[in-house]
Formats: sequence, structure tokens, C-alpha cells
Amino acid sequence: MKILPYLAGLSAMCLVACTRPASTVDVDEALAYCDSQVRRTLQELTDESGRLDYTLMPRNIADTAAVWHCRKATKEEWCAGFWPGILWYDYEATGDTLIRQEAERYTASLEFLSRTPAYDHDLGFLVFCSYGNGWRLTQRDDYKQVILDVADSLATLFNPSVGTILSWPREVATFGGHNTIMDNMINLEMLYWAARHGGRPELADIATTHARRTMECHFRPDYTCYHVAVYDTLTGEFRRGCTHQGYRDDSMWARGQAWAIYGYTMVYRETKDPVYLDFVQRVTDVYLERLPEDYIPYWDFSAPGIPDAPRDASAAAVVASALLELCGYVPAEKGEAYRQAAERMLASLGSGALRGGGCKPAFRRRSVGHWPAGSAIDASIIYADYYYIEALLRLKKLQQAEAGK
Ligand code: GLY
Repeated sequence: MKILPYLAGLSAMCLVACTRPASTVDVDEALAYCDSQVRRTLQELTDESGRLDYTLMPRNIADTAAVWHCRKATKEEWCAGFWPGILWYDYEATGDTLIRQEAERYTASLEFLSRTPAYDHDLGFLVFCSYGNGWRLTQRDDYKQVILDVADSLATLFNPSVGTILSWPREVATFGGHNTIMDNMINLEMLYWAARHGGRPELADIATTHARRTMECHFRPDYTCYHVAVYDTLTGEFRRGCTHQGYRDDSMWARGQAWAIYGYTMVYRETKDPVYLDFVQRVTDVYLERLPEDYIPYWDFSAPGIPDAPRDASAAAVVASALLELCGYVPAEKGEAYRQAAERMLASLGSGALRGGGCKPAFRRRSVGHWPAGSAIDASIIYADYYYIEALLRLKKLQQAEAGK
């Protein structure tokens, strides 16, 4: 099994780790549960004649429903890469070639993106979760070429006057300028990857410029972030921060902060610039300090109705995965605190209350997609499952490295 770069800091953590209480997360049991839910989903999506439509991607399950609501893989459907990504992770966990075959078939449904002009910033979610994981596990040259082509396409949305990627070209009039959303941080990973794998070196510069400008403009003095930053398209001047999926312009939308934690952890990995390591700890700490006891955030930290407001398991899964990387970059004591926090999140996510379990084929319940639009509230959502299985695999690799396996 490949050792990831973020495991390099592990030896520094060893002293602390030796005194760590036994993990409350049974990773193998949790991965076996995910595998059984993956197989169940495949079975439930198969029609009477035994066929799967590989262009239809599971998206969410309302709390009152028991079957996946699927959406066609189109350039507008930002979630279409998560299901292929889950299949790749399940293949990584099980080594089952049948799962790999299904991963390849679903992944192929996104190839059209390499021949399509960029519709918006979500290309990283779409292609790096699917083709990116596929390449990591197979090294297929055709996968590499798709990622390189899509990275070039994403870069066409970069505005040098602003220094960021335009997240939603279709919303320029609505927001009154060049808009960049915090979620966009995740898509930078594909640009860094492309620059290191035969793509144009400028792709990495674009990613770092975006990360720096976002760090400068997209956060409040307490390190909580806006969902959307609006800039003057021509002069590049920052105009205002506001929300789209959060409760208020000045509130901390849980998944937005989660994208920031995950994104800046990745930017530090790619740049090794200590500015980002310092910054991501501040962004992380304000989130951790304000969590409820079970470490599953309310969908927005100022949501109406707290403590009865809906939780967002997806944000918890994104942050758990990020912390299992970040814990290897910071000094040992702090790393241990991040590791413990991540395990606490995974333990809560794995508890009966949040399992899809018998009644649903999803791994997790209780995420919030878009509260202001009234969509996918208190639902199972595919990206919660994606980051949950990713986090489990990261924890498993940490445990294996510690055990010297
Ligand atoms: N990228 C959209 C979301 O996080 O809901």
C-alpha cells in the first residue's frame, strides 16, 4: 500500500500516539459496512433486465425516502463524480475487481467533460474524485489525459485581475461581479496534480494565486469564512462577502468552513508554504471550538432553532478527512488533538443515529444540501458518503503505519 505524503510527519507524533486511548472507531467494521451499502446501491440501481445506467449517479435520499434520487451526469450536475469516487475507494478497501469494473464504467460517463468547455468551477469535484482516484489506483494513461484536459479547461475560468477562478459564470449578474465560492478551494487540487504530471506549470501558479487571494479576502477577522466573495471583474477589487447556502452573510456555514479546512490543508501539502499551515490551523480551530458535543455541526453555526436545527454530517465527514491529513503536519501535541477530534467525528458519524443502515442504501444520514433553497435538508447526500469513506481509509493508513504494517 502506498504511503501518502502526509504520513511523513508520523514519526514526530509517535510519542504522543503511544499514549493514545484505543480508537473508538472500528475502521474495518465501518469499511465493511460501506462495502455492503455500495453493493446494495448497485443492486437497487439495476433494472429488471439486469442493466445499470452508468450515466445516472446517486445524489441524495430524503429522510422520508428509502431509495437514491439519481441525476444524470451532465456538466451542470456537480455531484456526479462522487459515486464513481466511492466505488474507487471501495475497490481500494476490498480489492474486488467487480467493484473496480463498476468504478471504471461510472467514471467513463464523465469523459465528456474533457471535451466540453468549462461550465463552472466544479470540474475538480467531478473529475478528480472519479478520474483522479481512478488514476491513483490504476495509473491508466487515458485517465491521466482526461484529468490534464479538464485541468486546462478549469484554468480558463481564472481571472488574473482578480487572482481567483470564477466559480459560477452564470451568476455574475446575480452577484454583481466575479464570484468565487469557498467550495472552489477543493478544485485546486486537480490543478496542482496536473502541473506535476505533465500539464502546464502555470496551473500550480493559478492554484496558489487563488488560494492566497481567497485567504486575504474570503475570511472575517475571526477566521470564519463567507460562502461567496464578490470581486470587480475588471479591476479585481474585492467588493463584498456574502452567502448562498448559509443562513446569513455573516454566519459560519458549516460546509463552507469545512471546504476551507480541507482546501488549505491540501494547499499546504502542495506548496509547503508555512503561511498556509498557520492559516489552516486558525480556520480549523474556530470551527472545532464552536462544535456541539458530538462534533457533528449544525448546518450553520448560527442556524435558527439550535439546538434542534438540522445537523450536517457532510461537513463532519469533510473535516474528519482533512484533520486526518492535517494531524501529520503540525507539532505532535496539536496533531494528536486533531486526530482525536477526527476520530470523535467518525465515531459520531458511525453511530446508529447517523447510519443509513437497514432503511437506506446510503452510508450516512442527516446532511443538509441547500437550506435556503429548501433542498436536501436532513438527507443522505452522496458527498457525505464520499468524504466518510475517504476519512476511514486515511485513518486505516495511519493505523497501519503506526503498527508498522
Ligand atoms: N459545492 C456545493 C456545496 O457544498 O453544497
